[in-house]
Amino acid sequence: MTLLTVTDATVRFGGLVAVNNVSFETEPGKVRALIGPNGAGKTTLFKAIAGEEELESGTIRFQDQEIQTLTPHEISERGVRRTFQTGGLFGELTALENVLAGLHTQVPSSLGGLLINSKHAKQVEKEATEKAHHLLEMMGIPHVAEQWARDLSGGQQRMVEIVRALATDPPLLLLDEPAVGLAPPVRLELLKIIRRLVEEENIGVILIEHAIEFVMTVSDTIMVLNNGEVIADGAPEEIRQDKEVLEAYLGR
Ligand SMILES: Nc1ncnc2c1ncn2[C@@H]1O[C@H](COP(=O)(O)OP(=O)(O)O)[C@@H](O)[C@H]1O
Ligand SMILES: [Mg+2]
Repeated sequence: MTLLTVTDATVRFGGLVAVNNVSFETEPGKVRALIGPNGAGKTTLFKAIAGEEELESGTIRFQDQEIQTLTPHEISERGVRRTFQTGGLFGELTALENVLAGLHTQVPSSLGGLLINSKHAKQVEKEATEKAHHLLEMMGIPHVAEQWARDLSGGQQRMVEIVRALATDPPLLLLDEPAVGLAPPVRLELLKIIRRLVEEENIGVILIEHAIEFVMTVSDTIMVLNNGEVIADGAPEEIRQDKEVLEAYLGR
């Protein structure tokens, strides 16, 4: 089954073609890594999928509907969620409250209105709370639920951000360097946890991550961008041996 199908997507900024005729697919329950040198077009591609940059040409289908003309809000409502390089939790809220705050901004607006008082809203919130506890436990940090976000370590804050994105059961999650800034062992640990969640929850993930050895460890397939173009796409062992990738990306 295909979750997302990008076909011949091009994004242009004036004379610069940031994303050039890119095509690929993603599946549920799989980690699809997106790598490439700085300026390759990775973040622009994410923005295009999330509706934040307009395509000059091409199509993006999500669950068999074209989404490239929808607004970011409409795309998020359909279940394409994105975390940001600079995440941002509310320091004055607990970890659990942060997760639930994400719920209020991410559930469909029709539900958002109901959340204030309806029975249904209480049910949604109850389920999300249970889910949040479950996810925090899977992350190995069940004890942080009631702690202030500002008191958590960097790694724990990153984990809570990911729990927040996952608590609404998004079919597709776009992770832009979710583990950036963490010490390497913590970084790898977090990526492995993400991988486990993806399998268990059957979520499709597109992961931007610079540490290539970690990418090799946690990804099902890896797509390599260079100057806006896909120069390789395949299983980690294929990418590891691809001559063009080694030259362009690893500088060999
Ligand atoms: N809003 C913008 N306006 C003009 N150029 C942009 C804009 N956003 C990104 N770019 C350019 O597009 C190219 C791809 O950028 P980006 O997608 O951020 O790359 P990456 O995430 O792979 O480092 C770069 O040359 C960058 O300078
Ligand atoms: Mg980027």
